Amino acid sequence: MKRAVYPGSFDPVTYGHLDVIRRASEIFDVLIVSVLNNQGKTPLFSVEERVNILKKATEDIPNVQVDSFSGLLINYAAENNLHVAVRGLRAITDFEYELQIAQTNRKLSGGKLDTMFLTTSLEYAYLSSSSVKEIASFGGDISQCVPDFVADMIYQKYNVQKVQH
Ligand code: PNS
Repeated sequence: MKRAVYPGSFDPVTYGHLDVIRRASEIFDVLIVSVLNNQGKTPLFSVEERVNILKKATEDIPNVQVDSFSGLLINYAAENNLHVAVRGLRAITDFEYELQIAQTNRKLSGGKLDTMFLTTSLEYAYLSSSSVKEIASFGGDISQCVPDFVADMIYQKYNVQKVQH
């Protein structure tokens, strides 16, 4: 059985992530989407909220499981017998950062954890969780970026109403 992990912050999940999740779920028998519990960052959504959002957003994809992890990805992967990490590449600017992480993980794991990249579909290449949050914080329209229930949750966090045009 081919299993893979898609690690990330997912604060919150966007249509760009969901595109990668859907396509990776067609390549692997089981895809575990795992939310990083990063103590160094102050996220908009708690790990539990992000896990629940991901579960709801992927409920129609039966071979997707949602989990969370702390610490190094290679340790989480080893504990769960996972040997492939999936990551999305939006543009060349992602490449250097992702290449460094992928090579570090491969080296640190003694070759046990490889990374597979999917290029994000062009329609989502401009998306990032940070820009979605910034737009939403000013009441801007994020309906093209995240599912409706996620958009509502983001506006609620910022205590803003979506600006109507
Ligand atoms: O969605 P993000 O924030 O771009 O995801 C980054 C992530 C979670 C894949 C990466 O930061 C990660 O794996 N962090 C866990 C710590 C780790 O293993 N670091 C070693 C790589 S240098």
